Amino acid sequence: MKKVLVTGGLGFIGSHTAVELLARGYEVLIADNLANTRASVLDGIAAIAGTRPVWANVDLADAVACRSFLAGHPDLAGIIHFAAAKAVGESVQMPLHYYRNNLGSLVHLLEHLAAQPQCAFIFSSSCTVYGQADQLPIREDAPIKPAESPYGNTKQIGEEILRDGARAHGFRAIALRYFNPIGAHPTARIGELPLGVPQNLVPFITQSAAGLRGPLKVFGNDYATRDGTAVRDYIHVVDVAAAHIVAMERLLAGTGTEAVEVFNLGTGQGSTVLEVLAAFERATGVKLQREFAPRRPGDVIAAYADTQKVASVLGWKAERTLDMACADAWRWQQSLGSAR
Ligand code: WQD
Repeated sequence: MKKVLVTGGLGFIGSHTAVELLARGYEVLIADNLANTRASVLDGIAAIAGTRPVWANVDLADAVACRSFLAGHPDLAGIIHFAAAKAVGESVQMPLHYYRNNLGSLVHLLEHLAAQPQCAFIFSSSCTVYGQADQLPIREDAPIKPAESPYGNTKQIGEEILRDGARAHGFRAIALRYFNPIGAHPTARIGELPLGVPQNLVPFITQSAAGLRGPLKVFGNDYATRDGTAVRDYIHVVDVAAAHIVAMERLLAGTGTEAVEVFNLGTGQGSTVLEVLAAFERATGVKLQREFAPRRPGDVIAAYADTQKVASVLGWKAERTLDMACADAWRWQQSLGSAR
């Protein structure tokens, strides 16, 4: 059984990817220091998968701890690296924490790969690297714009570290640039667990719908879009997780054409904020209170993926709809009760 390390495996995308890996017969090892999640997520993974992955509470940005942890697992077939701080606004307040945490952990993992180049590596990147793209839909060869936040910069620099490391040490990697992952597992045993006031749209919607928050503030309705609100490519988190399995299998098969391959993970469809609200109401029957508010600094007007490359090279495309993601997110929110 091939063993895959999932860093940040108790997080939103990490936990859904752990479930998909287990379903496909991989052995899963999780490294997560609970910086932005709860240990109870492991129970949810076990409930869905029927097997409980080993979980190590380790800070991968701590070089000694990371090296000692990895020395105990010389048999890793692959690593999927999700563990990172990811709040755009917070990164502006705490840039040094973001650079140390996000880039330090990456370098420590890649040092392991330098010694074991047969180990496959998937890097969790983000459409944030494109900034406001000049052309839509956004292709992987779109120019990388100056990052709008230290968070986005850690993804841009992370990809460069990956490329330089692969070139020097002969390992292979895939960077997956997520657009906007939303939703939850249909069993409602795992989902998005924003700690504190949700910064992202869909968890705020579900908490507002559950009466845990006030009306949704729509950040800006004066954009040059079809209804004045910003456009994003919302992709179901289970689709995002499934794409990681396809990428891992490509790396394990050694069929990649470059040392580091980059793929967009999106649906290829853009939706405005108001369209997401309408989809949520349609999918759940729950009426949402909303009010218009000023634009949020740092937001791009529109971003949605060109999905040709991931379709033609990986043979993968998203299968779930915005309405399904809204229904799954709502079911997960209801399972949380008044917890938030
Ligand atoms: C989506 C749209 C908001 C909240 C960020 C990161 C990205 C990735 C996903 C990690 C925007 C609007 C939001 C609200 C609103 N993170 N909105 N009211 O900013 O596209 O992407 O999260 O990988 O890297 O940049 O996602 O969900 O925050 O916002 O109107 O209460 O919803 O203005 O237009 P974003 P988001």
